[in-house]
Amino acid sequence: MSHSSEPREVPIYRQLAALYEQAIAAGSLTPGMRMPSVRELCQRHQVSLTTALQVLRQLESQGCVEARERVGYFVREPGGLALPGAREPDLHEPLAQDPRVFAGINERISGFLEKARRAGPLPLDLGSAMPSPSLFDAPALNRLAHGLLREQPDILVYGPSAPTTHPEFQQAMARHALTFGVCVAPADIGATHGNSEAVNLALDAVAEPGDVIAVESPTFFGILQAIEVRGLRALEIPSSPHTGMSLEALELAARNEPRLKGVVVVPHLQMPLGSVMPDTHKERLVALCVEHGLALIEDDIYREFVESPHVLRPAKAWDRPGDAGQVIYCASLSKSFAPGLRQGWMSAGRWQARVQMIKFARTRNMQTWSQLLAARSVDSPAYERHMRRMRAQLRIQREQAARAVARYFPAGTRLSLPPGGLSLWLELPIGISSTRLYDEALQNGIRVAPGPMFSNTGRYEHFLRLSCGMPFTAEVEAGYRTLGGLLAAQVAELPVPRKVA
Ligand SMILES: Cc1ncc(COP(=O)(O)O)c(C=O)c1O
Repeated sequence: MSHSSEPREVPIYRQLAALYEQAIAAGSLTPGMRMPSVRELCQRHQVSLTTALQVLRQLESQGCVEARERVGYFVREPGGLALPGAREPDLHEPLAQDPRVFAGINERISGFLEKARRAGPLPLDLGSAMPSPSLFDAPALNRLAHGLLREQPDILVYGPSAPTTHPEFQQAMARHALTFGVCVAPADIGATHGNSEAVNLALDAVAEPGDVIAVESPTFFGILQAIEVRGLRALEIPSSPHTGMSLEALELAARNEPRLKGVVVVPHLQMPLGSVMPDTHKERLVALCVEHGLALIEDDIYREFVESPHVLRPAKAWDRPGDAGQVIYCASLSKSFAPGLRQGWMSAGRWQARVQMIKFARTRNMQTWSQLLAARSVDSPAYERHMRRMRAQLRIQREQAARAVARYFPAGTRLSLPPGGLSLWLELPIGISSTRLYDEALQNGIRVAPGPMFSNTGRYEHFLRLSCGMPFTAEVEAGYRTLGGLLAAQVAELPVPRKVA
């Protein structure tokens, strides 16, 4: 993809980011120096708060500045990452409309999983987006669990069935939602089996077989699987590695696709891109869904993993009273608190009653045990302290992993460091097959997540997701070296010696 594929008019935030990038390169702003605050940027350049924030985020994603929680943005030490950044998508490429490309994700995912199963226990899992167990506060959870059992010895009986959610969980999550700018009544909160069940229920509620659901391209395979298994069709919308789904492309789809019923987005640390949708986009996205009568299914599992001096609001925060309920908000504590509990929750807006009915028909009441553990944890000050520690540790791990990519992977590998999260999304030189890498890595005891897991369009064969959830030990570094060697062998086999982009 060349520069000609970039949108013609460079947005103001990109122009300003380029200005500050030059200032850093020229030495006017030196490493460790505090960047102008969001407010200072607004005043200095006469731009909105959102644009100012976008400037800083853009610089952060380029690796020029770093966010320090509660303090602001600082110029980074140079030389950390000698890698070109991720490319913007080609907005002129036609959307994948061919129904044949919508089929097959479940078989593909099962195929990859089966190969990993046959390979047996693997020494190195760089394929799962999961924090290492050492990042969870197991002693605190144990204390809480023992206290709960003492207090409620009958906790393992069936929980309430109408609604299926425990009132203490509803109260705790409603208060939690307020901390990030979302006001929902406790009665409108439903507990789910992870974020996955929430998204599945949302799809059940808003669409029927043959309908179309827009998703980011690439996207988390669980979303594509849920769409396919219901006989729905996923329409992949080009998405920026920095700002997420292209709203222009979505608008085009909304005008031209009569069976489009909903949109699924992961606004914060989109999986696998790592993008964070700016507030202006969230607002426009909600308005667009209201205008076209689309359900906006928001998968917000990674919001708390974004390193940001500000509390980030999900799109649900723009679900205005007049249009109440266009956004189906889905979240989970699987990544932040205890993956094994699979405690998710949702607030389905105008589809709440329908979701509740489908939920009861499908899986009936939820486990009281995990709801109360989650409710009492989220509602304590220790939770935010735990998240702060987790973010700081993950940031170290992401940076170490990115440096290993720069050290061992072939020239032409592209990577933009995401502003948080558990994984890196790499573009490998064109012609490289990440499916082949998957097979060869398994033979070397390493699991990775190849690009084709995240799309049905066939565009991501030379992309790869690597997890950085585990501490960066000597074994992990050796794994990166091995992957680099396997990739170098593929590069050597490429038919014509090319100048890499
Ligand atoms: C974007 C996204 N949504 C949902 C999930 C799954 O969440 P849960 O385990 O809570 O069902 C994942 C896990 O990788 C994810 O990346």
